[in-house]
Amino acid sequence: MKSSPTSDISNRETQPFQRNATIVVFGASGDLAKKKIFPTLFTLYCLGSLPQNIKIIGYARTQIEPDEFQKRVSAHFKTTDKTRPKILPFLQLISYISGQYDTDEGYIELKRSIVKHEDTVGSSPSSRYRLLYLAVPPTVFVTVAVQSKKHLYPPLNEGQARLVVEKPFGRNTSTSNELQEYLKAQWAESEIYRIDHYLGKEMVKNILLLRFGNVFLNAAHNKEHISNIQIVFKEQMSTEGRGGYFDDMGIIRDVMQNHLMQVLCLMTMERPVSTSSEDVRDEKVKILRAIKPITLDDVVLGQYGRSENSSKSPPKPAYTDDQTVPDTSRSLTYAAVRLFIGNERWDGVPIILRAGKALDESKVEIRVQYKAAPRGMYYDLPRNELVIRIQPNESIYLKINNKLPGYSEDITVTDLDLTYNQRYPNIPIPDAYEALLRDCLSGNPANFVRADELELAWKVFSPLLDEIDQNENIKPEIYPHGSEGPKSVNQFLRDKGDYKST
Ligand code: NDP
Ligand code: BG6
Repeated sequence: MKSSPTSDISNRETQPFQRNATIVVFGASGDLAKKKIFPTLFTLYCLGSLPQNIKIIGYARTQIEPDEFQKRVSAHFKTTDKTRPKILPFLQLISYISGQYDTDEGYIELKRSIVKHEDTVGSSPSSRYRLLYLAVPPTVFVTVAVQSKKHLYPPLNEGQARLVVEKPFGRNTSTSNELQEYLKAQWAESEIYRIDHYLGKEMVKNILLLRFGNVFLNAAHNKEHISNIQIVFKEQMSTEGRGGYFDDMGIIRDVMQNHLMQVLCLMTMERPVSTSSEDVRDEKVKILRAIKPITLDDVVLGQYGRSENSSKSPPKPAYTDDQTVPDTSRSLTYAAVRLFIGNERWDGVPIILRAGKALDESKVEIRVQYKAAPRGMYYDLPRNELVIRIQPNESIYLKINNKLPGYSEDITVTDLDLTYNQRYPNIPIPDAYEALLRDCLSGNPANFVRADELELAWKVFSPLLDEIDQNENIKPEIYPHGSEGPKSVNQFLRDKGDYKST
């Protein structure tokens, strides 16, 4: 297929993979490094997607012997017979340095190690690339960012450095802004890659093409034709083991303000001038500015209790049964919110975001429900619905009304179905981190969150979150662990979301 002028523009922005790169993983002794970052780097190595001359350095306070570090790092690699022989050569690219985050010594040793690698591979100074991944808790973000700038930032015209940061980016507008101000004082916006891993998911990356590359979908993507849009995140997993983090955050901060809002932006923004990162992010910002802050009238808030009695399985615990969660916690493990976008395309169309943990199934999808067909020739036909299943089992399907074949005049709702594992059985779908780390290495910021997007996304939720935090009378509705969620959600969808099941 011929590439379009727009994709040419994006390609121009994407620099070829740096031939000489050093990745430093701060917090290398931690969970994210062990479970995500190193396994992803290994996968990229097996695919031949790492730069030719690469060095990976783990950095953290814990003293770990090199052998022990390699064992830890490789514990979560996904291997096959073909990739197993690549483990050892990959591990040879990795070293570990133990040091503090807030004093100079460790960074001086890091710099020595980076420069030694750069000198050994002997590339020209301008092609040197240093990717600094902050896999540390937010309390040390700023310290590491400041120290890295001081010690690890290459001199002018002698290469580039990029900082990769993971959420949470604050708890509300003011804490997030404060964090961004500290980062901005040291690093240019173009040097900061804020990860929202939903932007690396295959179906999320497909949204803009699906909308703007298909004339018929685009023509009907507005208030004249659409009754409501739902973005739904359901997880069977509970918060067990993460109680400390989760109790402070709750589901709105954990997945809604970031992952679901990014999906919402892509689903509702206007056509960008090109696929370049700044054009796309400019349009996202416009949509975020048009969303009014959510009020308490437009939400259902929930927390899971113990599962209902069942003869088949032992009861599953309530959220507050977790040792690290106070018995009186009001933290949210479920939320449904309705919001509106005040612009010409979407005025009056309810957009519902739903997210919950400890539910009956794990599924993330977008449902676009169209308006009813005109009455007269037919009466009360079920509404059309476009469903984009982000996970599991990636698919896109369109519910249409169809005549039952044969002599029957009956109408049946059926799906035009694009299920990826059937249509593209031989094309593996990359993990989100894989896609994003490739982007980091190739210097493409399109799938990362810009500071203004972040601030505006917080502004939509901050008043609601502050009110919930401050008003102790606001209590979540308890729902059974393993259920569909709070009972009042179905009524909420009918009353506030104009949702009709098809
Ligand atoms: P960890 O709690 O495992 O911390 C990572 C490392 O940071 C630890 O091994 C420890 O290393 C150091 N550390 C921990 N607490 C402190 C502290 N109070 N002060 C200084 N250093 C500390 O975090 P994760 O690996 O789980 O996550 C890292 C970042 O990524 C966090 O911001 C997290 O919110 C985010 N994240 C994590 C995800 C995950 O799946 N784990 C998913 C999405 C985001 P040492 O003591 O050796 O220096
Ligand atoms: C993380 C949240 O950002 O996203 C988790 O902190 C959540 O609570 C996870 O489970 C969901 O990601 P995925 O890729 O499994 O849908």
